[in-house]
Amino acid sequence: MANITFSSPTLPKDITVYAVAGDNHTLLDVAKKHGIEIPRQCEDGECGSCLVKVTHLGAKDPMAITLSDKERVTLSVNGKMKAEWVDNAVVNDMPPPYRLACQYIVRAEDILVEFSGEPGVEIDLRRPKTVYKKDE
Ligand code: FES
Repeated sequence: MANITFSSPTLPKDITVYAVAGDNHTLLDVAKKHGIEIPRQCEDGECGSCLVKVTHLGAKDPMAITLSDKERVTLSVNGKMKAEWVDNAVVNDMPPPYRLACQYIVRAEDILVEFSGEPGVEIDLRRPKTVYKKDE
């Protein structure tokens, strides 16, 4: 079992659902099953509109590390995959923060899934920025 918490400015509040791992369900499948609208178009890893940020929760090591070639290429072409993240995945088994919901296979791990609600737009671009005031 996996606890998956979806968070987005388009949702009235965060929604946590339980998913059975190992059924080859994608994050997009789980979201659709629970009426959570993640932007999508191709549903085949080619357009990048289902961009989500995934944060692993809990003490266990992340499991969903492997990206398909299609996911890696689409994230790279859309500027959502830094070279250092690729290296970190290969060397340290640490998955990159941005993934494609239609390609991410749910594993038995608890995760936070954040999305902006706009196709292919990073959630970090839609959060309020902290404003620092210079000392007076
Ligand atoms: S919907 Fe197109 S890449 Fe996921």
